[in-house]
Amino acid sequence: MTVPVIAIDGPSASGKGTIASRVAESLGFHYLESGALYRLVALLSLRHDTLDEARLAGLAASMDASFRGGRVFLEKQDVSEDIRSEACGNRASKVARMPAVRTALLKRQRAFRQPPGLVADGRDMATVVFPDASLKIFLTANPEVRAERRYKQLKEKGISANLRALSRDLAERDARDASRAVAPLAPAPDSQVLDSSALSIDEVVERIVGWCRERHLGGRS
Ligand code: DC
Repeated sequence: MTVPVIAIDGPSASGKGTIASRVAESLGFHYLESGALYRLVALLSLRHDTLDEARLAGLAASMDASFRGGRVFLEKQDVSEDIRSEACGNRASKVARMPAVRTALLKRQRAFRQPPGLVADGRDMATVVFPDASLKIFLTANPEVRAERRYKQLKEKGISANLRALSRDLAERDARDASRAVAPLAPAPDSQVLDSSALSIDEVVERIVGWCRERHLGGRS
């Protein structure tokens, strides 16, 4: 039997990460945050000061990346904070446009599909990486709500932020992610679009877990 996948795609700061990891926990499934892989390649791109596609694809295929207890490691070094910086996010959206980088990361992403199941979040989980996912969700929120959420997140971490600059960066990143030639950000034809602007995190998680239960996905009650 194939291992079930729940694909959760959506734009930056739509709350995908928090929601997908909570859904995974509630179902007892593994969790893949695919954006972290793009952010790791971005970190290498910044460290090596290169935007050379072939070189970055090589690094994407060979990098020693691991995920443990919600932390992200590169060559055994905890880089969880480094990859969350806005500089790294912006660079990630540039390396994510490169077809050779996307191809290099495909196999790595599919390797996360392990029993009893996987919840994967990103931009192209439903369209490219796991087109046979059992449940496909496209999670959105209006741009103002997303900028506010990102602003709060950064503030809570003690990182100073400017709401207007954040809004502008988010809009630029969305436009780049949606307009690129390979795997652009878009709902799959069979995705359920879920607008979280007026919903709390708990409400979104409950709704998705409810849809999973209707499909008999996930072991825990
Ligand atoms: O989800 P995030 O903000 O951490 O993603 C960082 C960047 O990586 C974002 O600009 C889009 C890109 N990305 C992608 O192209 N495909 C994915 N599956 C995940 C992320």
